[in-house]
Amino acid sequence: MEMREIGRSGIIVNGLGLGCWAIGGGSWWGENDDRISVDTIHRAAHLGIEWVDTARVYGFGHSEEVVGQALRSMPRHRVILSTKCALQWHSKEGEYHFTRDGHEVYRNLTPKSIRNDLELSLKTMGTDYIDVLYTHWQCREYGLVSVDETMGELIKMKQEGKIRAIGASNVSLQVLRDYASTGELVVIQEKLSILDRKPEVELLPFCEEHGISLQTYSPIEQGLLSGKIPDDCTFESGNVREGKFWWRAENIPKVNEMLRGWSDLTEKYQCTLTNLCIKWNSMLSPCIHVLCGARRIPQIEDVARSTEVPMSHADFERMKADADRLIAECCKD
Ligand SMILES: NC(=O)c1ccc[n+]([C@@H]2O[C@H](COP(=O)([O-])OP(=O)(O)OC[C@H]3O[C@@H](n4cnc5c(N)ncnc54)[C@H](OP(=O)(O)O)[C@@H]3O)[C@@H](O)[C@H]2O)c1
Repeated sequence: MEMREIGRSGIIVNGLGLGCWAIGGGSWWGENDDRISVDTIHRAAHLGIEWVDTARVYGFGHSEEVVGQALRSMPRHRVILSTKCALQWHSKEGEYHFTRDGHEVYRNLTPKSIRNDLELSLKTMGTDYIDVLYTHWQCREYGLVSVDETMGELIKMKQEGKIRAIGASNVSLQVLRDYASTGELVVIQEKLSILDRKPEVELLPFCEEHGISLQTYSPIEQGLLSGKIPDDCTFESGNVREGKFWWRAENIPKVNEMLRGWSDLTEKYQCTLTNLCIKWNSMLSPCIHVLCGARRIPQIEDVARSTEVPMSHADFERMKADADRLIAECCKD
């Protein structure tokens, strides 16, 4: 497993992390057996996957509860724990974000709101520190709450020893610059898969230049890039995949066709399509940490093998070219 530093934080961690959104269940992902989720987190740790990522809003606290259960029977220092603040559903303060499972969720980056979230996260997970605290979504209206104000509170939390490092998620370049100007931002978390590479344009070059890590989420497009999704797949209304571009009925068969074209690569490397796509993601830049979700032991065992694929530069470029062709074909309208 390749170890990578999180920005210039001094925290060195396996470049592959476990995402715990699905573990939170709810209408996004459907209900889970929490014992299996806990076992999956433990299995991840045994496989050397130390970075466990959650958020207050995943399952409206349930993901953090399950992560907390898992932490109780593990040495705390063996886990690099990240969670996210600034999405709250207890009041209508801030900018409206979405409604789900009867909760109205607001983006609220005020010091009071993020402090409240941090205290709830610590309590729910039964820990006295978080390794990386991310702000989950940024103000839609630029400057509604200034990054300086938010960052001021995050820095206080760090000085108090309640968090070890500061991250931000779903940022624009302008907001990233503001966070970085404080010298305290070590990582951003953004969606990036071989089929969705927006951060490559501005955010990744900025991160590379400034020694900031990029933790990439949804690297296998929520399971689609595993190649296990049938062409005619349907799902219930409200499912997390609903409305996602690559999950549209007309796009799934095209993605599957591209994936079938990589059967010689899975043969050559004796690996799965999931492994190819995760490895591809991590090869994009040394500042990338890949964050893949899993909620069952066979899934995390498969995911964990990804970093060991000895992918050649030529195969990396070939996959990129295939994905570029598909993106051009599907996005031309
Ligand atoms: N900052 C943000 O705004 C943000 C947004 C999204 C995600 N995230 C974080 O990033 C993490 C990962 O992203 P994601 O969960 O959206 O997408 P993902 O990692 O691309 O996909 C995870 C899903 O893929 C399926 N899967 C996993 N391993 C598999 C395997 N070996 N074979 C077949 N299917 C497999 C599972 O779905 P099933 O369990 O349904 O089979 C799993 O829940 C999240 O858990 C969360 O921590 C952050």
